[in-house]
Amino acid sequence: MADLVLENLQRVVTCAPGGSRGPLLGPAMGDLAPLAGDLCVAVAAGRVAYTGPRSGLPAALAVAPRRDCGGLLLTPALVDCHTHPAFVKARAEEFELRLQGASYEQIAAKGGGILSSTRAVREGGTAALLAATRRNLARLRAHGVAVAEGKSGYGLSAEHELRQLRAIREAGEALDLHTVRTCLAAHSLPAEFRGSPEQREQYLGQVCDEILPAAARDGLATRADVFCEQGVFTPNEALRVGRAAQAAGLRVTVHAEQLHPSGGALAAATLGADSADHLEYAGPAEFAALHAAGTAAVLLPGSTHCLRMDRWANGRAMVDAGLCVALATDFNPGSSPVANPAFVMNLSVLHCGLTPAEALAAFTVNAAHALRLPPGEFGVITPGARAAFALWDVDHEREIAYYAGSNLCAEVITCDGWRS
Ligand code: NIG
Ligand code: FE
Repeated sequence: MADLVLENLQRVVTCAPGGSRGPLLGPAMGDLAPLAGDLCVAVAAGRVAYTGPRSGLPAALAVAPRRDCGGLLLTPALVDCHTHPAFVKARAEEFELRLQGASYEQIAAKGGGILSSTRAVREGGTAALLAATRRNLARLRAHGVAVAEGKSGYGLSAEHELRQLRAIREAGEALDLHTVRTCLAAHSLPAEFRGSPEQREQYLGQVCDEILPAAARDGLATRADVFCEQGVFTPNEALRVGRAAQAAGLRVTVHAEQLHPSGGALAAATLGADSADHLEYAGPAEFAALHAAGTAAVLLPGSTHCLRMDRWANGRAMVDAGLCVALATDFNPGSSPVANPAFVMNLSVLHCGLTPAEALAAFTVNAAHALRLPPGEFGVITPGARAAFALWDVDHEREIAYYAGSNLCAEVITCDGWRS
């Protein structure tokens, strides 16, 4: 869509109180600066040009084509800052095993889990990978997402990690999604490197010296991630991978404190990572370190829920500690087959202590900051912001976290030129 006026909006949630451009921290996180009344939003050259009462629309913008929004509610398009979308098949048989009592880690130890998705990616052709990635990302878009971070991590070799990153790039382009791509070669030790400590060293060397630099080339990825967890990669290994990533020009994020207190949050802080993600087992010491480092905290309660964990990330304490708290789906075939951000918001208010308003801030402006997207461009509706919106069939934004499980997103609206 070219220049456009979205009209007949009864509520516009700007996520930009006082015209702010940055993340919403502490008590400000609950202030989404909603506008109410007979509203319109005008877009010119892919950017927001006006937001306010229809009666105040500047004449120069009023000539653009109109779009009747049916009296619905508009928010910035959601920013999903942690997803694993390049998987080719479900792992619902593992879900059934877990229902019978097997644990995520037991399944992984038997060659299931991440290694099973890795086999599927390696054995499937590139066309199948692209089609599946596109289908997965389309599910997110159907639920309000226009900006999606996407990780590799089911290739675990240079060839297949890069194939995954390419699939995410191409699927994003086909769906008009803005993708932020993250190389997660350090997701698991691949099966063929599990024989000896020397082989472990060899794979880590490959990740640091070959895969991450290759992913950085041509901007196939702009970030790297590492799964710091008991039985996966140690904090020292996370530091090593993070530093190699930074040397290759990549930004860094860490899967931290998900299943055990694993030291990942402190490693993330030491690296000055953009974010530490999961954090179920993080406490005040970790929050203080993340705060001092300017590292965002990304909560992924979809995975806590689907793994039936009884320990939820303490989002309330993180907000109160002044951290930039974001939420994401963690959409993946193992721990979080969840493609509905509104459901993740529901979990975050029921279990992590966020309010509905904070949950929406966490999925918009704060998620954009967790990805270090340019301030004022993503996750807000303010002059100069990218023209990407979610239209919701609700009367008030608090209902997004309330209607547990329904898809309330009527449409994602993106306008020509919004991604460039
Ligand atoms: O974020 N924790 C590691 N990675 C994913 C799960 C990946 C998988 O099970 O395939 C997560 O939970
Ligand atoms: Fe994850």
